Amino acid sequence: MSEVDNRLVMDQPVERNLLDRGKQGVVGKGLDRVDGPLKVTGRARYSYEEPVENVAYGIVLTSEIGHGRIAGIDAETARAAPGVIAVIVDHPLLPSDGASGTALPRTLPQIENYGQAIGILVAETLEAARSAAHLVRVEYRPEPGRFDMMAHIDELEHEPPTRLVPDQHKGDLDAALAESAIVFDATYTTPFHLPVALEPHAAIAIWTGDKVEIHSSLQLLKGSLAAISASLQLDPANVRILSPYIGGGFGGKTGVGPETVLAAIAAREIGRPVKVAVTRRQTAHLVHHRCDTRQRIRIGCTADGNILAIGHESIVTQKKDRIFIEPVSIGSFGLYAGDARRFTQSVVRLDLPQASAVRAPGEAVGMLTLETAMDELAEQLGLDPIEFRKRNEPAQNPLRGVPFSTRRLIECYDEGARRFGWDQRNPVPGETRDGEWLVGMGMAAAVRNNLLVESQARVRLTPEGRAIVETDMTDIGTGTYTILAQIAGEMLGLPLDRVEIRLGDTDFPHAAGSGGSFGAAASGSSVALACEEIIGRLAALMDATPEQLTLQDGIATARNRRKPLAELLDGKAMEALGTIQQGKNGQAFSQASYGAQFAEVAVNGVTGETRVRRLLGVFDCGRILNAKTARSQAVGGMIWGLSYALHEEAVVDTRSGAFVTRDLAEYHVAANADVPQIEAYFLDATDPYANPLGVKGIGELTVGGTGAAIANAIYNACGVRAREFPLTLDRLLQGLPPV
Ligand code: MOS
Repeated sequence: MSEVDNRLVMDQPVERNLLDRGKQGVVGKGLDRVDGPLKVTGRARYSYEEPVENVAYGIVLTSEIGHGRIAGIDAETARAAPGVIAVIVDHPLLPSDGASGTALPRTLPQIENYGQAIGILVAETLEAARSAAHLVRVEYRPEPGRFDMMAHIDELEHEPPTRLVPDQHKGDLDAALAESAIVFDATYTTPFHLPVALEPHAAIAIWTGDKVEIHSSLQLLKGSLAAISASLQLDPANVRILSPYIGGGFGGKTGVGPETVLAAIAAREIGRPVKVAVTRRQTAHLVHHRCDTRQRIRIGCTADGNILAIGHESIVTQKKDRIFIEPVSIGSFGLYAGDARRFTQSVVRLDLPQASAVRAPGEAVGMLTLETAMDELAEQLGLDPIEFRKRNEPAQNPLRGVPFSTRRLIECYDEGARRFGWDQRNPVPGETRDGEWLVGMGMAAAVRNNLLVESQARVRLTPEGRAIVETDMTDIGTGTYTILAQIAGEMLGLPLDRVEIRLGDTDFPHAAGSGGSFGAAASGSSVALACEEIIGRLAALMDATPEQLTLQDGIATARNRRKPLAELLDGKAMEALGTIQQGKNGQAFSQASYGAQFAEVAVNGVTGETRVRRLLGVFDCGRILNAKTARSQAVGGMIWGLSYALHEEAVVDTRSGAFVTRDLAEYHVAANADVPQIEAYFLDATDPYANPLGVKGIGELTVGGTGAAIANAIYNACGVRAREFPLTLDRLLQGLPPV
């Protein structure tokens, strides 16, 4: 049976949301995760847990200098240690670092950064491998390295040739600033961030002849298949990647790490399956990080607060030759009015591990600063921060001059202010006290670019009337299994126990993967399109049009006839592909999700410690597929925002180029004790230009703005405006008013 592919290119608004006709009533509900029982009982297998016979254990060997060369490696003692099978340090395919979609040439004996992979040791047990790894003697020829942005700021590279987003110029920023009654000009800094997924980066490689099966924790399987095949110099048809469960990615699993390629190399060399997990302390160097940033924000406006000019110019860091440049100002492009606009990104090249996508690349750090600047300027103007933002709400995208697809930001402000009790805020800083605590409120806008990435899925309706969905989409903990089951169940009229979702296998049709908050929209649309094709065929069997057909609880009804699916299918299965693709809508409209974030904090007047008391967010991110998983994403995103504002800071030892914050004791992410009451609400209104479901990205949207709302609340509480993140107590103490 040749499969029909129901392909939709988004060239126009979708007139009818594919989910609107469903009668099953499962879409939008706050249903529990379908994979929940598997996870809480330990039956969901993560990449390192796949049982494999005769498996050997690998340890990634890493460099102990930050820059220089390897003069020699003495592995003989290690090779002779108990249980050691092989030490591989001179293989032609050895990767030097993670390959975000690209295979890298072997760079040994050159050391480009501290903690770089230089080989792999394989043993009979994990303990034998870890013990013997210490016996590998490496002789280095260290060279001076570049480990500090400010020490090399005079070597700034303007307009790096490859960027996610190019520099943006509109009008004459300097002239417009000169003509502005009020000019705001401030520079902010944000530190290095680590993605810190809870599940280790890990891989198992199993060869059968020339084919390799790889179990690895990866967010984007299509790109990973290309990267792994290229790194191993294999035809992609000979590579299968399995990644059915992922214990958090946070951007760190968007690329392929060296452990995956090393496991495959070692398994082939020793003729046995090999499993490798990156240790927590290795993760800081073997997995990419978010670069540090220095951001200058200039805003010029009239005396009554109409913005005329806005500039967001950033300096970021990156390893040489790497193409990812943190798109710091992407959220600033179209958020506020103003004719003159300048958004630039310059880079200082450092000898650190590569920088790449971490939890909302761009907006996470860009909104932190822009939205703090907006608060500072609102105060200077004597305007309420919400009123200032409303005065500068643009009618269309002010940079590109195209209409917004949908934008309900004003509604987010109003709904948020009402629910939060914004009218209770005292605009004068430092006046609200609770014992020795200074209490304040702050708010910020949130925006996240909405993307549609090509995605494909196969849906099979079995003769018994069960649906099986297959796509190489991943579920990084966000609830993909559940929302895809809801979509298929809604459209085919099946209770969820009659829908099976199979994900994370590159033998299935290729999906967008999980990244950039585009997963649900893309993979959900492909599943819905496959279901639409099946609905058409079921209607034909009923001698009806699809509009006349109702599917509910496994029963088809049309033209006064009623048939259980099992009877209608008459022993035959039905199968269809669905494919969604971006078209003209991507350029013709400005597509984003929006939100308004509110925070109440208390700053201790004696110690300077900040405790967040309340967070509330109202979000406009299209149709909500599952009220519970959507809320969980928002709560998680807001916690990451809190974490950026107050805690997260990866510190580089500028003598060695090593991150010294290598574990979760030293690299502090918000823990339960840091997290207050959090409320998240959704406007739940579809965007017909986004995709046939009208859904938009949630996760990363909800990160943006949270940190700035907290920073602004800190200022409102204690009157101290720190412009270096995170806002740790040492940065607040000096300016605190007397208790
Ligand atoms: Mo995301 S940081 O694009 O996984």
